[in-house]
Amino acid sequence: MDKKIIVANWKMRPDTLQEAEDLFRLSRGAIVCPPFVYIEALSKLTEAVLGAQDCHFEDEGAFTGEVSAKMLKNLGVKYVIIGHSERRWIMGETDEMINKKLKAVLRNEMTPILAVGERARRDDYREVIIDQLEKALERVDQKDIKNIIFAYEPVWAIGTGHVATPRQAQDAHHFIRQRLTATYGLDVAQAVHIQYGGSVKPDNAAALLHQPDVDGALVGGASLQPESFLGIIKAAF
Ligand code: PGA
Repeated sequence: MDKKIIVANWKMRPDTLQEAEDLFRLSRGAIVCPPFVYIEALSKLTEAVLGAQDCHFEDEGAFTGEVSAKMLKNLGVKYVIIGHSERRWIMGETDEMINKKLKAVLRNEMTPILAVGERARRDDYREVIIDQLEKALERVDQKDIKNIIFAYEPVWAIGTGHVATPRQAQDAHHFIRQRLTATYGLDVAQAVHIQYGGSVKPDNAAALLHQPDVDGALVGGASLQPESFLGIIKAAF
């Protein structure tokens, strides 16, 4: 995969629109997923590409507090993270909801960034990944698979500073690509991007991104520190 993709997941930060605009302007060349409240204002800026951190699975209706994929699409959002571990484990999202959200993003012609990953790196970690992948992709049209970005996000590496080694990341990414090859064929598996996420920092980004099956990075904490994020973007291009 020649072009690496760098995604910023700001999570529930920063506190003000001014900071959000400043950060967005500095994130040139990346996909930025801000909190919903900043999306409209940031859609007027052009330095980065706009993503979102989540969406609801229905296109409209009585769902207090939720935001639809259609609303995001109408504001110019191009990518939506689905199945992030903080949503799975803190907000109680189920595989079934993740499957429906993935379909909502595809139906609204945006690119889902589907996050999967084990909570602890044990010998059976591949089974956890297979299970999450199969459930998230259930009855997703075969032709849509290449429009999905996959993100390997081991939960033990997220926000902990315990980054996966390049070898651990490569093994998991290779495994995901093999599974996609087995189910959807080589052309599809080679066309999709597989991102790594979990404690990516400027000093470990290059080694991770040089792995043959690591097509980009999904960056949390470091994406809110301009110098760190610029260092990661530099490592990718
Ligand atoms: P982190 O988060 O870079 O802060 O570990 C990554 C993520 O949650 O996507």
